Amino acid sequence: MFNFLLHQSVRILFGAGTSQQVGDLVKSLNRKKVFIATDKGIVQAGIAEKIIGAVKKAGLDYILFDEILPDAPAKFAEEGYKVLKDSGADAVVALGGGSTIDTTKAINLLRFNDGPLMKYTEGPPAWAMVKAAPGLIAIPTTAGTGSEMSDGVIIADENHVKRTILSPLVMPEYSILDAELLLGVPPHILASTGLDALSHNIEGYLVNLSVHLTDVICLAAAASILKWLPIAFNDPKDIESRSHLMAASALGGWMLANVHCNSGHSFAHVLGSLFGMPHGFGCAYAMPPVTEFNAPVVLERTKTVGELFGLKFGANESPEEVGKKVKDAMIHFRDVTLKLKKAKEFNYDPARFEEASNLVLKEAFQMFNPREMDQKQALAIIKEIYA
Ligand SMILES: [Fe+2]
Repeated sequence: MFNFLLHQSVRILFGAGTSQQVGDLVKSLNRKKVFIATDKGIVQAGIAEKIIGAVKKAGLDYILFDEILPDAPAKFAEEGYKVLKDSGADAVVALGGGSTIDTTKAINLLRFNDGPLMKYTEGPPAWAMVKAAPGLIAIPTTAGTGSEMSDGVIIADENHVKRTILSPLVMPEYSILDAELLLGVPPHILASTGLDALSHNIEGYLVNLSVHLTDVICLAAAASILKWLPIAFNDPKDIESRSHLMAASALGGWMLANVHCNSGHSFAHVLGSLFGMPHGFGCAYAMPPVTEFNAPVVLERTKTVGELFGLKFGANESPEEVGKKVKDAMIHFRDVTLKLKKAKEFNYDPARFEEASNLVLKEAFQMFNPREMDQKQALAIIKEIYA
């Protein structure tokens, strides 16, 4: 079997205003009725109305499913699929952030695969069971998760533990990257989602699967986010910066599908499952200490990441000094440039830190971390996140 290093199957429309082409795209596929999956916030922001307008203009029927919740459980996606099936819709649009696109991937998967969804989350033999689920059109309204370009479906089980279905066969077939949809995103959400995108690209460079082919993309996309995220954060009307963020976020999602992420994402997923920590924030808090932890085994790569933050390194700096410097630069970007609130301002329970550290070691992305981690080290990182 061939081990392909880079795979990209999503057809992309890119540019400000391109979401208005969604109706024509569906029509070109000879589909008649569109299932538009989104959440109430997107409806209130007037974005759903714009997409519905484009669908109607193309002479198509539609059904609006605006019930999607953050980190929706698998059961919810199964209910969503019933609504889709009863509606007779033959096209599926995911309009929203990562949770919406992931949940809609799961709904679309059920058009071609039997439930329950959980049976596809149990590791490689289960992933291999997934049959192709074509036809999904993703329209992201945040620049962060890159779900519009990734092969992952993050879905919660009945205990709110996040599970992952990984298969290139569940990827969207089309993505429409329209920076105009980012204009109403509040600065703190722009920051936390942007840091998620940054972590996909930096972690994608600091994994044990990284190769020259992906390094180029990860570094360029990370540099782009470091340049343009502060501009977008400080200027609510700037389209240029938001276009760069849409591009870098999508590329981060593509990298996520190919080289994955390191232990930073393991922490983010566990803190999300146990304490409800929003994903972008979890990534923003975990990446600095995990980067410091990994520095001794990926020293030159850690320096390269530090240089993206404007750091310079002397010949005699120890791996520990390099790791600390890069960690501090990441924290400065997060807390000073982007004014992110502290991890301890979210709900958390120190009595569950032990449990969290054990879950981190079992989390799917841990296997891609370049340095082996034990429970004590995971616990120390969790304590540092909440210090
Ligand atoms: Fe992420």
